[in-house]
Amino acid sequence: MRRVRLSLLPGLEVEFTDRDRAIRQVEDWARESTRWPIVIFGPEGCGKSALLRQAAAMLRDLGYDVVYVDPLHRFFAAHTDVDEIARKLADAASEALGIAQLKLATLAIDAIKELLDRWGRRRVAVLVDEAFQAVGLDKAGIYVKSLLNLIEYPPRSYEGIVAVVATSEGVTRGEIGRHRWAHLTPMWNMAKEGFRQLYEAIPGAKPPFEDVWRLTGGNPDMLLELYKRSWNVDKMVKALIRDKELTPGFIAKWRDWLKKTIEDPEALWSPDAPEELIRQLVERNLILYNIYEREQIFWIDQPPPERDPELGIGRDVAWQTPLHKEAVRRALGMPS
Ligand SMILES: Nc1ncnc2c1ncn2[C@@H]1O[C@H](COP(=O)(O)OP(=O)(O)OP(=O)(O)O)[C@@H](O)[C@H]1O
Ligand SMILES: [Mg+2]
Repeated sequence: MRRVRLSLLPGLEVEFTDRDRAIRQVEDWARESTRWPIVIFGPEGCGKSALLRQAAAMLRDLGYDVVYVDPLHRFFAAHTDVDEIARKLADAASEALGIAQLKLATLAIDAIKELLDRWGRRRVAVLVDEAFQAVGLDKAGIYVKSLLNLIEYPPRSYEGIVAVVATSEGVTRGEIGRHRWAHLTPMWNMAKEGFRQLYEAIPGAKPPFEDVWRLTGGNPDMLLELYKRSWNVDKMVKALIRDKELTPGFIAKWRDWLKKTIEDPEALWSPDAPEELIRQLVERNLILYNIYEREQIFWIDQPPPERDPELGIGRDVAWQTPLHKEAVRRALGMPS
């Protein structure tokens, strides 16, 4: 199967790396269709967008007409010989900020309807990156429902429909999970050997692989962020403290629970753990809460281990990466 080339750093492209199981899952979708829209969530920067781009290319090779949109970045790819579809997407992408985002997200669905109905295509795929940030969180449910409608009540019969949405973990999961309109599927950071290949592709002198693994837990975005900061962990942690708004007020309010969560994320699984803190940590993309069983069928690609104290992974609760945990530890003033 062809692997797409992705821009890792300015001037450095790499092939979509590893994720062999995910690739087989895309092949399954192509063969069997997705009976519900697949909503992929997982740690920020774990590689959801990369997978969607790989899936778009694969589905095209497997005989699908594919519409891929990334509304937030006003990016789209129309793998179809129907020029009109590509033109409409280009027009939408060139609209003013805000309007373009919404238009691309809705147009992706309309384009698929049109490919089926007007152009008689029999195999169509729609892949939407961060749709919910574009349409608004309050409309996330409706958006997925319209994808489901497309699958269940297509304007014409079809041979295959694939509908996949990617979203960063956070509140969307609750919004979608309440309805039975989608197949919520988590994806974790990269497995060690695959991640090693990405590490090796990074130029220049770098810390030993084991150190990088223990810091990033296999998260490709954290790898790149560390590289961009010349592997200065201190700078990286400070940036996280700022970005995640780990302010003195927040830290003071939750000090005791945060300390317990540093020692073992599973502490938050106890019945007396404050719901407000859990919500805050989930919203800030610091932890993953209520993690699925580690059975392959529930996951895109390989599930994480059941537990890995060193990487901050518990059975039901996990830090998104060790660096996220380190940022909270530092904000608490705890020694490393
Ligand atoms: N399997 C892979 N092979 C090669 N590069 C990858 C792979 N996975 C991720 N990357 C690269 O790592 C970076 C982060 O990945 P990506 O943007 O896909 O993550 P994400 O989960 O979509 O993040 P976000 O939550 O911010 O949307 C990107 O530069 C991407 O191209
Ligand atoms: Mg993304």
